[in-house]
Amino acid sequence: MRIKTGVIFWNLVFFMMVTCVRGFIYTCGGTLKGRNGTVESPGFPYGYPNGANCTWVIVAEEGNRIQIVFQSFAVEEEYDFLSLYDGHPHPVNFRTRLTGFSIPPPVTSTGSVFSLRLTSDFAVSAHGFKLYHEELQISACGNPGVPPKGILVGTRFNVGDQIRYSCVTGYVLDGHPQLTCVTNAEKGAMWDFPVPICRDGEAGGACSGGVAVGVEVVPRARPMPWGRRGPM
Ligand SMILES: *[C@@H]1O[C@H](CO)[C@@H](O)[C@H](O)[C@H]1NC(C)=O
Ligand SMILES: *[C@@H]1O[C@H](CO)[C@@H](O)[C@H](O)[C@H]1NC(C)=O
Repeated sequence: MRIKTGVIFWNLVFFMMVTCVRGFIYTCGGTLKGRNGTVESPGFPYGYPNGANCTWVIVAEEGNRIQIVFQSFAVEEEYDFLSLYDGHPHPVNFRTRLTGFSIPPPVTSTGSVFSLRLTSDFAVSAHGFKLYHEELQISACGNPGVPPKGILVGTRFNVGDQIRYSCVTGYVLDGHPQLTCVTNAEKGAMWDFPVPICRDGEAGGACSGGVAVGVEVVPRARPMPWGRRGPM
């Protein structure tokens, strides 16, 4: 009898918890159309609600793609997420899940629909995110964004345009400084190289050491007669 009462009690507690939790689901979002616009998490920049499940579906004209560029991003790491879907928000279109406190690089859809879903747990929030979305014509690469500590020179992002990256003083550029918007048969216009990153100047020494090791490997790859000596 005692056990049974206990079971009933805990079932009741569990039921109440589930009911409470369900009651706190905060839904928001919507369908966005238009050449460009911004999306902000609810309450930005003062924090999004707990229990959020907000879905935004961005729809471009048929044949165009959508690029999103984050302006601000702070989401409770590993508990709250912004999921990106390359299409409608179905698991088959799932692309990536963003969390944490650094601004993610821009993302471009492969088709004319792009979706975002913010889900938060039942405790702790952060200031949230703000992003700019833009419809890309077939001949547009879109602004690829500026890496942390980087400088971007160039304001046109269409086929044939070139842009240049550099880093603020004390940082070293890693990657190609110049990007050209080229046409790609499958994906439409795209940049010929990924956006470079800016490393702390201190790390430069470690990298040149790595290059030296690489150079050493080259002659060994050739079958030299004096290389065939037995183990010593
Ligand atoms: C957004 O699109 C409008 C035209 O629809 C344009 O006038 C405006 O400059 C665009 N905004 C940005 C930031 O590109
Ligand atoms: C969020 O809502 C969608 C439907 O709008 C649902 O399919 C999805 O499972 C929900 N996600 C969570 C984490 O509750």
